[in-house]
Amino acid sequence: MEIRWLGHSAFEITTDEDIKILIDPFISNNPSCNIPVEELTADIICITHGHSDHFGDAYEIAEKSNSIVVSNHEIGMFLQKQGIEAVNMNIGGSTSIRNIKFTMVDAIHSSDVDFVEEGAVPGGSACGFIITFPNGDKIYHAGDTALYGDMESIIGNIYKPDIAIIPIGDRFTMGPFEGALATRWVSPKAVIPMHYNTFPAIEQDPVIFSNFVKQLDPSIDVVIMNPGEVYKVELEKE
Ligand code: NI
Ligand code: MN
Repeated sequence: MEIRWLGHSAFEITTDEDIKILIDPFISNNPSCNIPVEELTADIICITHGHSDHFGDAYEIAEKSNSIVVSNHEIGMFLQKQGIEAVNMNIGGSTSIRNIKFTMVDAIHSSDVDFVEEGAVPGGSACGFIITFPNGDKIYHAGDTALYGDMESIIGNIYKPDIAIIPIGDRFTMGPFEGALATRWVSPKAVIPMHYNTFPAIEQDPVIFSNFVKQLDPSIDVVIMNPGEVYKVELEKE
């Protein structure tokens, strides 16, 4: 499996079976993404909430590549009205698409669809995803969220993801310190920071985050990526 960071919270996952998953595909207006949206396709698109820096180019990409969108009920209905195939779900539930399991978990954040002409329309609840691949590997994409205790009691203790992708930009989400605490609670083998250095309001040094994680749990690998970079996932099996 390969994970490519497209900047901000946008990630492209290519599975061993060559299935492409895009999460939060904010591409054409993303100052940290220099990959043209025309170059991207997806079999499956996950959307964590309705804000434009996460919903991004989901409609365009889904339309041109016939993707299946996985999102909360409200965003799914919004897309279905425009002819997109969306699998609606809600927090606590799972659904399987092409042998990949998507579990929707909580995120403490808002989720209005904020880019429509009429202003903001209700977009349900913000979420994160646990994605379980056919070989058992699990990725947790936290979406935009505050630190909350169930990251330990539910995500860390029950779902036990191998890789966590955690926002560290502060202001709208956790900052480096909260992100490091979340990482310790989730207790993955590796963590990738996201949602920083896209705009001046979320400028952060990821090394500060990495140092906090190392102090809290030195066994966790911190994978600091540059936008456009690919991380090849090779997990040791117990
Ligand atoms: Ni947001
Ligand atoms: Mn955001």
